[in-house]
Amino acid sequence: MADTTLLLGQTLSFRADPFAAGVAESAVHVRHGGVALRDGLIQETGTADELRARHPGATVRDYGDGLITAGFIDAHAHFPQTAMIASWGKRLIDWLNTYTFPEEMRFADATYAAEIAARYFDLVLANGTTTVCSFCTIHPESVDAYFSEAQARGLRMLGGKTCMDRNAPEGLRDTPQSAYDDSKALLEKWHGAGRLSYVITPRFSPTSTPEQLAAMGALWAEHPDCLMQTHLSEQVDEVAWARSLFPEARDYLDTYECHGLLGAGAVFGHAIHLEPRERARLKEADASLVHCPTSNTFIGSGLFDMDGLMREGQRIGLATDTGGGSSFSMLRTMAAAYEVAQLRGRALHPAELYWLATQGAARALRLDHRIGNLAPGIEADLVVLDLASTPAIAQRSTRANDIWEALFPTIMMGDDRAVSAVWAGGRCVQPAASAG
Ligand code: GUN
Ligand code: ZN
Repeated sequence: MADTTLLLGQTLSFRADPFAAGVAESAVHVRHGGVALRDGLIQETGTADELRARHPGATVRDYGDGLITAGFIDAHAHFPQTAMIASWGKRLIDWLNTYTFPEEMRFADATYAAEIAARYFDLVLANGTTTVCSFCTIHPESVDAYFSEAQARGLRMLGGKTCMDRNAPEGLRDTPQSAYDDSKALLEKWHGAGRLSYVITPRFSPTSTPEQLAAMGALWAEHPDCLMQTHLSEQVDEVAWARSLFPEARDYLDTYECHGLLGAGAVFGHAIHLEPRERARLKEADASLVHCPTSNTFIGSGLFDMDGLMREGQRIGLATDTGGGSSFSMLRTMAAAYEVAQLRGRALHPAELYWLATQGAARALRLDHRIGNLAPGIEADLVVLDLASTPAIAQRSTRANDIWEALFPTIMMGDDRAVSAVWAGGRCVQPAASAG
């Protein structure tokens, strides 16, 4: 792609973390702004007039009042759970056994895996999400389906084979050796292929033997540039179960730590019911925590301590946790994060919510130098939002006094109708008809 493309509209970007620096020092809103794209990257940002003057030959897409930002980043999801999202009435362990494991069993069939991967990327793109860090199933076919589909669409995606060698049904268990061998082969095939990253993925301590966790730790030590993702302290019953399975461990985190699975690049989903030692070690190790608020309310897990953990300086991202989470939308996820924080006595600012869904999630995945912001050199993965996408939102946002009052109704009430366009790697991928 040799030519420059200008996307014009309102723009929102970040020059710092609003939790640390405050909203005024961090968020940058340009009322009549734009982004110049070239060779899949953001070349320049500025006012619409400046950019038009500097790039007279550029192709121009004028989105009017549309809000152009970085595409959303979903730092923890399970693409194989797409077809069983919103399954009723269970808490974590029963939910896994009743709904999740039977559905994940189906991914032994490569055709089914490919069908769901395509459906999943259709859904996330329709919701403005341009990067996901996903669990696959134990089947290598599920990883191939996920990465093949992402590659065909030119998306920056992360994922890995979910490893389990106990407390899962026959047909959904591997072994320490096969988990190591399969993960290594998939890592060598997909990690760094174009925009793809392989993530070493033990599901969680209760479904892995100590031998399997050690094998994952060994693989990670051999490939320290990969992330390692798992679950930590999501429900009280799960914490008790993990502790009973690892009686020597000091706490749940220690079941990972003593097998080489704690460090920079470790990404822990949920992290709700944490002990003081765990919090201190997570911070010291510079590991990432991923808040999954629609999941935490849907499965009844608990209220993530965003305020306390941010004050400690933890590295935190935001995620749907589809299909424990009840939505594919990062807008809905921001709304749930707001509600969960309210229940803990802290009103998150729209800038903080938006940062968590873009730069924060990118930081949690150690990709903030590549994605999650509007700045020169950052990859051109963008979403354009209509801040008046429904009558209910429009009647509220049209009386807004600033960008935050204009944006917050879309955060709280918006869905895929608010997503006017999505660009990935400098190409328009949504709506598909205008893809170029
Ligand atoms: N813990 C272990 N596996 C899962 C999963 O698939 N979803 C959620 N929410 N928690 C888990
Ligand atoms: Zn999960």
